[in-house]
Amino acid sequence: MRGAPPCRGSSVTHSHSPYAPQHSPQGGLSAADFSKITALPKAELHVHLEGSIEPATVVALAARYGQQVEEAEVLARYRTADFPSFLDAYKWVTSYLRQPQDYALVARRLAEQLLAEGVVYAEVTLSAGVMLLRRQDPVANFQAIREATAPYVARGLRLQWIFDAVRQFGPAAAKEVAGCAVELRAEGVVAFGLGGDELALPASDFCEIYDFVAARGLGRLVHAGEIGGPQSVRDAVEQLGAQRIGHGIAAALDPGLLGWLAERSILLEICPTSNLRTGALLRHFGATLAQHPLPNLVRAGVPVSLSTDDPAMFETHLNLEYQMLGEIGLHVAEILRVAEAGFSGAFLPPAEKSALLATFHQRAKLLGLL
Ligand code: ADE
Ligand code: ZN
Repeated sequence: MRGAPPCRGSSVTHSHSPYAPQHSPQGGLSAADFSKITALPKAELHVHLEGSIEPATVVALAARYGQQVEEAEVLARYRTADFPSFLDAYKWVTSYLRQPQDYALVARRLAEQLLAEGVVYAEVTLSAGVMLLRRQDPVANFQAIREATAPYVARGLRLQWIFDAVRQFGPAAAKEVAGCAVELRAEGVVAFGLGGDELALPASDFCEIYDFVAARGLGRLVHAGEIGGPQSVRDAVEQLGAQRIGHGIAAALDPGLLGWLAERSILLEICPTSNLRTGALLRHFGATLAQHPLPNLVRAGVPVSLSTDDPAMFETHLNLEYQMLGEIGLHVAEILRVAEAGFSGAFLPPAEKSALLATFHQRAKLLGLL
């Protein structure tokens, strides 16, 4: 492929709606174990900045542009139960991100939330594909995001960035995102990803772009096996060289694929509440979180990390996702393995990764979890 073109221009409360994350009152982690898990330093590898915008912030952003939006409307739009309505909500909320200062505001709020959750390391995904579609300058947006989050980095939150293209916008648009990601490598962009509608276009359409970013040292991520089937996960790894998969839950439908992923140490970034709210869980497994395949994935030896995906849209946060792991039947030792995988799977230089893992193990020991 020829060179890609340069770039253009605290805790959350949950309502008791049918769309809110489901919790079984019985079972799950004991209060003592949950508070220990909460006290662990954590990694968050799959969180979209654009999906982290709390309703009050959407109201404030809309007001900047002379539009009156009520929090109730935001919540109603956010409470999706299938993938098309999720994409609509995502499109709607991103329509209020118009200038670098809008990105700065939402980045500050996400960083605050991550620190409140005990996150010490995050790779935050930015929808550069959406920025380009709206004729914005991803470089200017990114510089604003970096400046806004610098105080949180100073407080101990290590942040790196993923530039995401949107699959249904096609390979030409994705190529432009890849060019931007490469341009910003020295500023903390560590990977290129592909999100959006997994069923819209095959992985093979994006081979050249993944070759381009791989040759330039960027990590490779693909949303796959979310609403697509097991073959979509295999294609992401075989054809695009994905090192981690966003979601990948459909892999649980194919035992052979599970072994294949385990052998290759391909990490699945699992986001249980997201799977419920996008309809991915219902599509492949059933309507309740109790039917989530996460325990099978972990027990098949596939590396699994835990994430929120779009925490504000799905009314979740990271510690709540950890609580759910207990509710869907994971033992404390398995939960610890999932938390550790967030650090092991990070796109970090080996020395830094080892240091974060050492701190994680030390804290787990102090808490009596190891
Ligand atoms: N972009 C943000 N969240 C996403 C998801 N769950 N699937 C695909 N693309 C996304
Ligand atoms: Zn995602």
